[in-house]
Amino acid sequence: MEILGIDVGGTGIKSAIVETATGELLDEKHRIATPRPATPKAVARALGEVLRHHGWNGPVGIGFPAAIQHGVARTAANVDKSFIGLPITDYFSRETGRRVFIANDADVAGLAEMRFGAGKGHAGVVLIITIGTGLGTALFSGGHLLPNTELGHVFLENGQEAERYASEAVRVTKKLKWKDWGERLNLYLRTMEGLLWPDLIILGGGVSEKLNKFSPTLTTKAPVVAAGFLNRAGIVGAALFAEESLRKAAGA
Ligand code: BGC
Repeated sequence: MEILGIDVGGTGIKSAIVETATGELLDEKHRIATPRPATPKAVARALGEVLRHHGWNGPVGIGFPAAIQHGVARTAANVDKSFIGLPITDYFSRETGRRVFIANDADVAGLAEMRFGAGKGHAGVVLIITIGTGLGTALFSGGHLLPNTELGHVFLENGQEAERYASEAVRVTKKLKWKDWGERLNLYLRTMEGLLWPDLIILGGGVSEKLNKFSPTLTTKAPVVAAGFLNRAGIVGAALFAEESLRKAAGA
C-alpha cells in the first residue's frame, strides 16, 4: 500500500511516500522546518504544505514527538504545550481535510526497524532509541510494542534528565566532541540497560549514521547497532502505523 509517512520532529518535519510492503521510499524525502512556536495551528498548516508538496490525496501516517494515547496527545516536551490533552488525530484530520493516523515518533520508528530494519525477526527485548531534539524510546518484546514509553525523560545518577544531557540537540549546542557526547550517551544506555535488560539496542536519528565515531565509548552488555533505516525510520514507520490502523478499522 502507498502511504505518505510524515515524521514531525522538534526541529524538522520529514516526509516521503512509502511502499509499506517493502519500506521503500517512492519519492524524494522532503524536509521543512518545524514552525516555532510549534502550536497545533502552525503544525497543521505545515502539514498542509507537506501534503501539497507531495500532491498527495491518499492515507497519511504521522509520527509525533509526544505520548499519543488513543489519538490524544499527553505530553509536549519539544512542541507547544497547548498540544497536551488535544485530540490530535481528530484535530489534524479536520485541519488537513484528510484521514490521518498518528502515533509517537519513536514508536513508529521502532515499527519500521522491527519489520524491515535492524530488529527484523528479533524475538527478544529490543530497545529502540531515537536521538534528535529529544530522546525517544520504543520497547518491543517478542515483536510486540509497549507503546508510549517516555524513557528519554528519566533522571540519570548525575541528577540530569537524560534528554537534556545526551540528545543530539545537546551535542550540537554544547559543541561536544563525539567522545564526550558518547560518554554521556553511554551513561544513558547503561541506565536503560540496568532497568530493562534489553537483548538489543537500536539507535535511530541522524547520529545513527555516525555510530562508528562514538561506539568505542559504549560499554553496555547488549549490542548497540544503528537503525537499518538510519533517520528514515520515522517516515517509514509512520506509514506502517497508518497501514496497520487502516487494516484494523477494516476489521482485517
Ligand atoms: C518526547 C517523546 C519523543 C521524543 C523524541 C521526547 O521529548 O517526550 O514523546 O518520542 O522526544 O522525539
